[in-house]
Amino acid sequence: MGAIIAIVSQKGGVGKSSIARSLAREAAAARLAVKLADLDTQQGTCLDWARDRNALGIDPAVSVESYRNAAAALAVAASVDLLVVDGPARTSAGTLDLARAADLVVQPSGPSADDLRPAIREFRALEKEGVPKGRLVILLNCVGSDAEESAARAFVEEAGFEALPGALPERVAYRMALNAGRTMTETTYKDLNKKAAIMLQSLIQKAAIA
Ligand SMILES: Nc1ncnc2c1ncn2[C@@H]1O[C@H](COP(=O)(O)OP(=O)(O)OP(=O)(O)O)[C@@H](O)[C@H]1O
Ligand SMILES: [Mg+2]
Repeated sequence: MGAIIAIVSQKGGVGKSSIARSLAREAAAARLAVKLADLDTQQGTCLDWARDRNALGIDPAVSVESYRNAAAALAVAASVDLLVVDGPARTSAGTLDLARAADLVVQPSGPSADDLRPAIREFRALEKEGVPKGRLVILLNCVGSDAEESAARAFVEEAGFEALPGALPERVAYRMALNAGRTMTETTYKDLNKKAAIMLQSLIQKAAIA
């Protein structure tokens, strides 16, 4: 049984699909058998992206498939080293199934209180349903400055949850990379690639030892 990392969020547009693709790419580059499960059947963001990536022949190839529900995606974990699940916009009944099965539940969030409050509420709800707190981590995304990052981190910690070390800045280059079948570790800027790679590798390690 491979490790499972579920990327979920209460708010839409916080970077779930961007982080899921980038994470799957890092795992593939590390020669893990990885599957990226796209559970967002309405948007199919990862599926569209995989088509672009394949057409351009970008290495490493990332295996992406769409599944109708959490149970169908989770069944795949038995046949891979790592299953990355890109959750649908907003949480649903399936989010709890995903969270219960996952070794790690990653919730990307912007740094504002407007973004963080619903993220914390979502984690509290999952915890209440029996998901161990140690499996719930917030990934700060679209951060504008170091000061903003520290304030956001303090907010999360005060609420009793973990924010991963580091944060992803808001950068046009990340969007441009994703537009072109690439990931947040494959931009034209080495420092941005490195920042993303360090965070994503720490997630893979965390899931492997969970
Ligand atoms: N760090 C970043 N810097 C710049 N743009 C970003 C960053 N992270 C994500 N984006 C952009 O923000 C938009 C939303 O990201 P994404 O689609 O990954 O979010 P999502 O949580 O999957 O959305 P949805 O809830 O609709 O599924 C995309 O256009 C993406 O390219
Ligand atoms: Mg998405």
